[in-house]
Amino acid sequence: MKTIRRITVLLALALVFAASCYAQDSQGALDVIMNRTSIRKFTGEPVSKENLETILKAGMAAPTAMNVQPWRFVVVTDKDKIASVFAAGPRSGMFTQAGAVIVVCGQTTIKRRPFGQPDGPETEMPNIFWYEDCSAAAQNILLAAKALGLGAVWTAGYPAEERVKPIAEKLGIPEGIVPLCIIPIGVPAENPAPKDKWKPENVHWEQW
Ligand SMILES: Cc1cc2nc3c(=O)[nH]c(=O)nc-3n(C[C@H](O)[C@H](O)[C@H](O)COP(=O)(O)O)c2cc1C
Repeated sequence: MKTIRRITVLLALALVFAASCYAQDSQGALDVIMNRTSIRKFTGEPVSKENLETILKAGMAAPTAMNVQPWRFVVVTDKDKIASVFAAGPRSGMFTQAGAVIVVCGQTTIKRRPFGQPDGPETEMPNIFWYEDCSAAAQNILLAAKALGLGAVWTAGYPAEERVKPIAEKLGIPEGIVPLCIIPIGVPAENPAPKDKWKPENVHWEQW
């Protein structure tokens, strides 16, 4: 009898512990989302390979239309290379002091059978969802960086041709793969307050 009571108490404790872990975790995710801000100043310290892989895994965990996963990533950690590829613009500091730069790219075409022709020939066709998928991956990357205590900022690539072309050339990105955004990541050297973007007037409940 005593043993059964002990087991019951232990099970109850385990349940309470699991529930509290779950509550903390879901609150943790919301904290990260609500407190993420663009970080443009970094200390210059490197970002570990382990952290970069975690960040990339988060990117690849994003939703993707028809599970196509059109994202491709170029990760640059070499300081000289970062300087020569990304630091040409007016805000070069955010690149030169970053520990790494992730270029989120998308494959713009997909090999598939035409809709409504399950037995038709596989053909290369545009993947109209590539940049939505890659945007979701990019946002996951920003959030994962924040969750790891790092900073990051989305800087524009596609559709700004003048930004896309030189980076694609310098990094040897093949045709059909387009840099959507360029994300410097590093140890933050600034701590800006998150912007309050909550505007109830942008929400239409039930009907516009
Ligand atoms: C599509 C897109 C393009 C952006 N391009 C740049 C950019 O080229 N340079 C930059 O410093 N920030 C860029 N940002 C970051 C925004 O400026 C930033 O997200 C916005 O001001 C809101 O601030 P927050 O990220 O701190 O909430 C971009 C963000 C998005 C989503």
